[in-house]
Amino acid sequence: MNCRGDDFSVTYSETQIEQMKKDDLQYFLHPTSSILDMEAWGGPRIIAEGNGIRVKSVEGKSYIDCGAGLWLNNVGFGRTELADAAKEQMEKLSYFQCFNGYSHPLVIELAKKVSAMAPVDEARIFFTSGGSESNDTAYKLARTFWYLNGKPDKNHIIGRSKAYHGVSYGAVSATSLPGFWDGFRPLVPNFHHIPHPHCYFCAWGKEQSNCSLECADALEQKILEVGQEHVAGFTAEPVIGTGGAIVPPAGYYQKIREICDKYDVLFIADEVICGFGRTGKMFGIEHWGVTPDIVMMAKGITSGYIPMGAVAISGEVFAPIKKHGILMHGYTYSGHPVACAVSLKNLEIVECENLVENTAVMGEMLRAKIRELGIPCIGEVRGLGLMNAVQLVKDLENHTRFDASVGFAKKVSNLAWENGLILRPLIDDGLQLSPSLVITESDIDELVQKLAVSIEEGYREIMG
Ligand SMILES: Cc1ncc(COP(=O)(O)O)c(C=O)c1O
Repeated sequence: MNCRGDDFSVTYSETQIEQMKKDDLQYFLHPTSSILDMEAWGGPRIIAEGNGIRVKSVEGKSYIDCGAGLWLNNVGFGRTELADAAKEQMEKLSYFQCFNGYSHPLVIELAKKVSAMAPVDEARIFFTSGGSESNDTAYKLARTFWYLNGKPDKNHIIGRSKAYHGVSYGAVSATSLPGFWDGFRPLVPNFHHIPHPHCYFCAWGKEQSNCSLECADALEQKILEVGQEHVAGFTAEPVIGTGGAIVPPAGYYQKIREICDKYDVLFIADEVICGFGRTGKMFGIEHWGVTPDIVMMAKGITSGYIPMGAVAISGEVFAPIKKHGILMHGYTYSGHPVACAVSLKNLEIVECENLVENTAVMGEMLRAKIRELGIPCIGEVRGLGLMNAVQLVKDLENHTRFDASVGFAKKVSNLAWENGLILRPLIDDGLQLSPSLVITESDIDELVQKLAVSIEEGYREIMG
């Protein structure tokens, strides 16, 4: 691994740090950050450098980043190969459009590469600048597919509760998490939601022994309610990310695929987090052996070194567009040459360093070591590969959560910051554990030890 190594250490004086915090509070409007919290802390937590699975604050303190940024840093921080690839491409061709019949060598190479990797038949790739754009693109492609096939009324999209698909208007309309709709209505019409599957908190009150995948049947019921002639597609994150690293049961997506086929509904898989190794397979949906019609990607496609996203569509979805002759949709940065260069190098690293295999092994180990802690408020330890969450509960037997007013996961996350971990609280008292895919066994030991201390401290605090 070509990282900058341990020499990474920019230092700032106390005066500089204080000024930065003041300026941040005065000038910067943060995405999805509590302004009250940042004010209470005397300014945001400022990160200056990264190396492998760790980052350093401007104060010079090192943290294991349990979130790999926002679930995206697959190859680790500080990879000089990626910086070199970007520099070389900027010098050669910093930008050229892919509109109006133009192309460039690296976008062709990357489209071919992603097409070969994507779990879609005869995949054709459209590039975006991130996950929300990929989601909007996917819904537009689903609608245009039916429109061009003479069914313009087949334009409804069904998603699920606890889904996060982004914040642009299409994506946020498919999202279903508290807070993202308030104040932004009206949303895009013709989006619907069904309950998400989560066995630990089964919405149908079923156990494994008497479950007949009612969570998948909910899709059929919704299609019948909306009308088959209206439903263009069903969208799902193979493993729910921001909603809590929730893995559906065995057989779920096979049944979803059958229902989609029965009612002529496109299956649109949002692999923005899952894609490119995070779940211990190259794509999340591969765990169920199912083939979607459209797949959204972003994050791991460049490990976040530069913004990029993509959408893969099947040959069948492309056919009417080809016949029509043009897709009137595109972003200035679709297929940006520098992002393509970084992505190609990033994917080469994922493959050459066997990061997908490492993810499967390290993920198992991480979950096992947390379960072994035997801390009484640790309920479900769930996930696939390095897409995990620890569920904090009040009552292990009945899976009862603490009252939301306790803010337990947030408390633990603040203690974790003191203990050298960047640990994000997820909705309903989950803690996100999705470090970079380059994590090693000794890193996991350190992470689990710091996590245990933070949870125990938090538990003692709330139990008095
Ligand atoms: C599954 C999923 N889809 C889409 C998005 C939106 O991506 P972006 O923030 O790049 O627009 C995210 C972001 O976290 C995501 O997790």
